[in-house]
Formats: sequence, structure tokens, C-alpha cells
Amino acid sequence: MKTLLVKYTPREERSTSKKLLDAFRNEIKNSEIEVLDLCINVPDMFNVENMSAYIHRNYLKEEISNGQTKSLTKMDAMTRQIKSADIVVMAFPMHNFSMPAPVKAWFDSVMLKGQTWDTSDGKYFGLMNGKKALILVSSGGFYTKEPMMNWEHALSLTKIEFQFMGFSDIRGILNEGMNAGDQAQAENLGKSIAEVKKIAIEWYGN
Ligand SMILES: Cc1cc2nc3c(=O)[nH]c(=O)nc-3n(C[C@H](O)[C@H](O)[C@H](O)COP(=O)(O)O)c2cc1C
Repeated sequence: MKTLLVKYTPREERSTSKKLLDAFRNEIKNSEIEVLDLCINVPDMFNVENMSAYIHRNYLKEEISNGQTKSLTKMDAMTRQIKSADIVVMAFPMHNFSMPAPVKAWFDSVMLKGQTWDTSDGKYFGLMNGKKALILVSSGGFYTKEPMMNWEHALSLTKIEFQFMGFSDIRGILNEGMNAGDQAQAENLGKSIAEVKKIAIEWYGN
């Protein structure tokens, strides 16, 4: 069994999303662990060259040149990595109501047609059945009650990405209110850490 930890926590030791990931990691048992740090290994974004290579190779099923193949090297490596994992755990902060750009670029890198999802008879289907995902997102404000509920596009979008790829068990924790003062931060972080541990114990045992 393999667990892939995908993190984007640029505040490092001060990061509350990193604290959640560390709490999960401490509970992992009987699994190989691989870490992808998106602050260090920054995903490529689509540009004119690699977009054309991707479409010709993955959609039109054409032979592409060595240069075109090379332009997709990093995306292909990240895709192989997610495909090799049984459990994927992600940790990152909310930035401007959504996932930070490197996290989105990672999804754009691994959501490759024919690899993690495909189509048949005009219908879309995921290829990652049987896998589990846990998403850990910290936010400064609160989004589980009105009037902010429809401003939350970090956890909700991330869940949809995993759903589209066909993941079978998708969990998410919105560790909210991290900028709402020391007391609210401590209380909410404590609750989120307890939830994280519960999920880890459910998945890996005591
Ligand atoms: C560039 C930037 C954008 C942010 N945007 C939001 C936001 O849209 N909504 C929000 O509630 N908090 C926002 N925050 C606050 C962070 O989400 C919050 O501080 C969170 O705890 C950071 O995660 P970390 O503790 O793992 O570093 C933003 C912070 C930064 C630095």
C-alpha cells in the first residue's frame, strides 16, 4: 500500500494545514509514504507547446515528436505518481476563496485524459476507482454558515476533482476560522486534528 502526501504549505512550521497533515502522517501504519511538496516541485502549467502535445497525444491519439513528449515530462511523472498511490492526502490553505495556483496546476497536470479519467460513448468516467482521498484545507474565515457558504471554492472544488477521477472514498476537512483570534483558532484546529486522527485510524487501524 502506498500513501501520497501532497502539500502546499508555504508558511511551513506556522502552517495550520501542515499541522493537520503531520497529525495524519503520525497515524499512518503499514504503508509506504511518498511526499510531493508543491512549494519545491512546482507543477508545470499548460502553455502553447505542451497543450498541443497533450491534445495530439491524449485526445487525437497521434504520434508526437520527442520534443513534444519532453514538454509533458513533468505532467506525466506527476500522473504516474498519483496513479501509483492507494491513498492521497492533500494539505493547503485557502487563497482567495479557492485552491492556491500550484495546487490547481497539480490537478491540471494529473487529470490527463486516458490516464486518470476517460470518455466512452460521449460519457465521462474516472479511472481511479478503489482509491481514497483526504483533503485538508485551512481558511482564515468561516464558510460553513451563511452569508459565506457559497464563497467556498477550495475544498468543494478539490472534492469535485477527485470525484471526476473516480476516487471511491473522498473526505474533506475545512479547518476554518484560523484568523478569527487565538481562542477560535485553537478550538477549531483542535477539532480538525481530532477529525483527521479519526479518519486515519479508520483507514489504517489502531
Ligand atoms: C494570499 C492569501 C490569500 C488568502 N485568501 C483567503 C481567503 O480567500 N479566505 C480566507 O478565509 N482566508 C484566506 N487567507 C487566509 C489563510 O487561508 C489562512 O491564514 C490559513 O490559515 C492559511 O493556512 P496555513 O495556516 O496552513 O498557512 C489567505 C491568506 C493568504 C496569504
